[in-house]
Amino acid sequence: MKNITKFLNIAYIIAIGSISLISCGGVPEENKASASTENVFSVAEVLEMVSKENDVTRTLYTKAIVGKGKTQGMKFDEDWRKDDVEAGPLPALFLRGVATSIKKSPVPLGLYLGSDFPVNAANKFVGKQAVLFEKIKEDQEPQFFYDEEQELHTAMFADVAGADACVTCHNNHKQSPKTDWKLGDVMGATTWQYPKDSLSYKETVAVLNSYAKGTVDIYMEYLDEIKAFEKSEKPVIGDKWPVEGNYLPTAEVFLDSVKKLSSYETMKHLVTMN
Ligand code: HEC
Repeated sequence: MKNITKFLNIAYIIAIGSISLISCGGVPEENKASASTENVFSVAEVLEMVSKENDVTRTLYTKAIVGKGKTQGMKFDEDWRKDDVEAGPLPALFLRGVATSIKKSPVPLGLYLGSDFPVNAANKFVGKQAVLFEKIKEDQEPQFFYDEEQELHTAMFADVAGADACVTCHNNHKQSPKTDWKLGDVMGATTWQYPKDSLSYKETVAVLNSYAKGTVDIYMEYLDEIKAFEKSEKPVIGDKWPVEGNYLPTAEVFLDSVKKLSSYETMKHLVTMN
């Protein structure tokens, strides 16, 4: 666990480091001092950034871990936490794990995965989110609004069936109210919430880091489950991926790939703001 904390700290410092370089180059001298406290991003921009990170993480987990892992005989189950079930978390439960970790952090960021035809009735959109989800299904464009009741800025992004596994599992699930999902369908949306309408660099980096830490937390929980396996063959945990055999990457290796795949987009956003 120590290593992970250290790794996250380094990632944080690198992020802050790059940001100060950017500010030194792009911000006029007199604004330098306030650059880290000034609110420079709208909440919509930040939620879009973290949603991009989430897209990369979700795709990597679904395809490289769950998809390839299954071909190696690894199991993934909605009851993965039960002692007698030797399996890893399904993609939706991986996301729930990230959301739970963020909730425990000091960062006031909310994350929720919903649908109009959910496998789990608790994931059904209601109210304004249900109305906006209809629009998202039409054009797959994100929707932003201020939730007056909860006093939270809210952004919704399409969750698209990007792999055969999404469609087959949902169509065959005994609790699924819809059995004709197709590849490319908008199956749901991720809803993100934040209390403020704009964020400083520091707050923006805190949001991105709390998402990354959430990924590591749930992934570590999965690796801990594996340690307790009695009947199943345990994958070797190191720097290899399931595509190569009965292997799983460590949390550091997993997060590193997410960073490599997403950081360019995120950094581009952070740079072009000034
Ligand atoms: C092996 C089965 C399986 C696979 C593969 C799978 N899901 Fe799910 N999905 C579930 C289950 C079970 C739930 C309900 C989890 C819970 O209890 O909240 C769920 C939840 C969801 C939800 C929240 C609404 C709901 O149905 O409860 C969405 C949206 C969703 N999945 C989309 C996807 C997409 C997109 C993919 C592919 C990237 C995918 N799922 C892959 C089984 C699966």
